[in-house]
Amino acid sequence: MSLSERIGQMREHFLRELSELATAKDLESLKLKYFGKKGPIQALMLELKSCSSDERPLLGKMINDLKEELFSHCEHSLARVKASEMEERLNREQIDPTLPGRRRFYGRSHPVSQLLDRAVDILIGMGFSVRLGPNADTDYYNFGGLNFAPDHPARDMQDTFYLNTEWLLRTHTSNVQVHAMEEIEPPIRVIAPGRCFRNETVSARSHVFFHQIEGFYIDRNVSFADLFATMEEFWSKLLGEKVTTRFRPSYFPFVEPGLEVDVRCTSCKGKGCRLCKQSGWLEVCGAGMIHPNVLKMGNIDPDVYSGYAWGMGIERLAILQHEIPDIRMFTQNDLRFLSQF
Ligand code: DAH
Repeated sequence: MSLSERIGQMREHFLRELSELATAKDLESLKLKYFGKKGPIQALMLELKSCSSDERPLLGKMINDLKEELFSHCEHSLARVKASEMEERLNREQIDPTLPGRRRFYGRSHPVSQLLDRAVDILIGMGFSVRLGPNADTDYYNFGGLNFAPDHPARDMQDTFYLNTEWLLRTHTSNVQVHAMEEIEPPIRVIAPGRCFRNETVSARSHVFFHQIEGFYIDRNVSFADLFATMEEFWSKLLGEKVTTRFRPSYFPFVEPGLEVDVRCTSCKGKGCRLCKQSGWLEVCGAGMIHPNVLKMGNIDPDVYSGYAWGMGIERLAILQHEIPDIRMFTQNDLRFLSQF
């Protein structure tokens, strides 16, 4: 076969191969195969050397024309292949803008924190400032300085987590009263939100770990009427409606008189329902006028100053507010529960 015939044949082979390829990658390998240093076009060039000098210019031009022609076929094919690849990709990656968006899960604060934060905000608005007491404290701050007798049953190992003979995990936030009296001169208007610990059997109603807010106000001429007004105002704000309060006598060593504060049931308005166990009232906190012994131990003269104090359990309130059946749900970290708040 003559050189010029072989040039024609190569064009045919090349065009056939070109028409069969589908991807830009295939095209690259085809180019490499034909135009490479060891490829057939280069081989034709080498053969030129053995041609006669009158044939050589014409054949040389034929080979160069072939090279150019095939090259421009490659360029066109590349554009075509790329366009079809793009079309295929667009079809594959089609998006449907009418589909609803994917729901994003946003974190939120724990229901106990939510209630705690809200109560703290309200009390700050009423003029109280926040003090965070130590969770681990001494027997004196948790009991002795609050007028608990040395043999008071609350001191029992069964109720209190002792760290050693002197130190313990506070059983209530009332310990902050004793610290505050030591550190600040009256007037003292403080709230103490935080964690408390009790060595109790964990059940649906009680836990070893819970939260309280303690509040107290010490000044000249603080009277029972101030406590009364503060309770009405605070509970109305927290529960979002004007509430009726009721005070029942009770006993806490650090207050005299000591009281339980009830609010008229927010669910049945006093008629009696499941929430208030048919009593018409919800028990919301303990309170009282600070015992003179407590003031004295805090270096505050009970003949000059008086004060009131109250303390409330936050989990208990959240349970009332949302009718939660079991206090343990707060610490089980079940998102199905937590994401409802
Ligand atoms: N510390 C008490 C408790 O944990 C709650 C309490 C009752 C606090 C009466 C007070 C109060 O300040 O006056 O049960």
